[in-house]
Amino acid sequence: MKGKFITFEGSEGCGKSTQSEMLFAYLKARGFSVVYLREPGGVKLSEAIRGLLLDPKSTICPQAETLLYMAARAQVVEEIIKPALAAGKTVVCDRFLDSTIAYQGFGLGIDIKLIKTLGNFATQGIKPDLTVFLDLPVKAGLKHRQDCCDRIEQRCLSYHEKVRKGYLRLAKAEPARIRVVKVMEDKFKTQNKIREVLNAL
Ligand code: TMP
Repeated sequence: MKGKFITFEGSEGCGKSTQSEMLFAYLKARGFSVVYLREPGGVKLSEAIRGLLLDPKSTICPQAETLLYMAARAQVVEEIIKPALAAGKTVVCDRFLDSTIAYQGFGLGIDIKLIKTLGNFATQGIKPDLTVFLDLPVKAGLKHRQDCCDRIEQRCLSYHEKVRKGYLRLAKAEPARIRVVKVMEDKFKTQNKIREVLNAL
């Protein structure tokens, strides 16, 4: 693939969307041809799946939840990510396969080897060149989300702790790809850290 693939990961309320949007604007201003996406979402089918996954009224078992995230991913990879990378564009994506490993694997107990196998199928083997994991203590993150709780956010504190710990384990296992950036009070300071990480690469 000619283009670079940058993903953002983090637990609830870590400011991932704000930071990834800021990075997108920064890269665009520097003249890069950049595509910005969020997961699950980015294309019609994946946005529809997102609606089902996040609706607090949906009844979804862990197996179906895992497969739905993968289906949403497969479609956005095929329609947007793969062609953009092949054309040499930079792709910035708010969440990707690491989210499934953290939330459904570490969080819900779905077999991680199985998630990786399904992930390889859904992504056609496309992997991020850089993943920024925005780290914030779980309680601090959930405080930002009190008013609008979706089906996943509603899960108990211990679930979200497992997700964060899972991310930290992933970062330890793949330190060259997954870079941990501590979330600071000042969003501009956090953004500067992210840019430092990016520039170093
Ligand atoms: P967002 O809040 O970052 O937009 O992400 C939507 C929710 O979906 C969030 O609670 C994390 C969750 N999620 C998973 O559980 N597994 C996944 O594979 C992805 C991409 C997201």
